[in-house]
Amino acid sequence: MAGKSVLVTGGTSGIGKATAAGLAALGARVGITGRDPARTEAAAAGIRATPGSPAVDGFAADMSAQAGVRRLAAQVLDTYPRLDVLVNNAGGFWAHRHVTADGLEHTFALNHLAPFLLTSLLLDRLAASAPARIITVSSGAHARGRIDFDDLQGKRDYSGQRAYSQSKLANVMFTYELSRRLDGAGVTATVLHPGVIRTSFGAEDQAAYLAVMIRVARLFMKTPAQGAGTSIYLASSPEVEGITGRYFVNRKPRTSSKASYDTAAAARLWQVSTDLAGMTATA
Ligand SMILES: NC(=O)c1ccc[n+]([C@@H]2O[C@H](COP(=O)([O-])OP(=O)(O)OC[C@H]3O[C@@H](n4cnc5c(N)ncnc54)[C@H](OP(=O)(O)O)[C@@H]3O)[C@@H](O)[C@H]2O)c1
Repeated sequence: MAGKSVLVTGGTSGIGKATAAGLAALGARVGITGRDPARTEAAAAGIRATPGSPAVDGFAADMSAQAGVRRLAAQVLDTYPRLDVLVNNAGGFWAHRHVTADGLEHTFALNHLAPFLLTSLLLDRLAASAPARIITVSSGAHARGRIDFDDLQGKRDYSGQRAYSQSKLANVMFTYELSRRLDGAGVTATVLHPGVIRTSFGAEDQAAYLAVMIRVARLFMKTPAQGAGTSIYLASSPEVEGITGRYFVNRKPRTSSKASYDTAAAARLWQVSTDLAGMTATA
């Protein structure tokens, strides 16, 4: 990865931090993002301190707000004259419904709209750096998901599980639609399930009835380094050069849910996301 620039969103902890550390150790210049400037810089400094990983930049941005994503994209474009890999990793689970600065449901805004908007804003730079790769961290939970076009924002009847599964299905459909739109551009789009990993996932707003179960389940979960394996593989391995529009688990291509292959729904989701992110259809 020497000579390559990589951006990993949500790189201050968990799977994202392990992904950033792994790619930095392979020689890439790596940018990580997080909400809090001090925490983001501390995480970047921590990775920089690892021998052989000198070039790590921290970008602070609240990606649940579209203004935050736009500021982040502008900073990244200013910092990296070329961008070889974008890893859309930041995401989370909220047991209760929260509303973002843009008036959108938080899970949908952070897990789906933020990577949608960030990818769009960085796409020209990625294309100019081709061959380039866009990797999005979804989840096996996408298989329980359904895109509820009548209530995308969970206004009628919010459930954390439903909102999360919908957002992770949106990650898979976004990747497949993106790969179709990028045909011939030299930029690949892949999506993955990282495994069940011991991180801070869901800790900000956990359902009380799940807390004990999760504490026990954590004992059996894999480490963040194990969870980063597929992201690092897709970002760096020559084995997946040119592979696009595929879903991976444990570094292997897998079939995703039936709903994820619905091309009409994917095109509709793309249009709705374009409108909600305040972008014109051509942008
Ligand atoms: N853990 C699992 O078992 C599992 C399973 C399947 C899929 N995943 C997926 O893996 C990805 C990473 O999750 P994780 O388990 O590593 O969780 P995590 O430890 O909670 O890490 C989440 C990362 O996202 C960042 N983040 C959260 N809200 C943000 C916001 N509004 N703006 C910008 N950054 C934000 C956090 O940074 P700050 O807190 O510093 O802002 C942190 O770096 C997620 O997309 C998740 O859906 C995880």
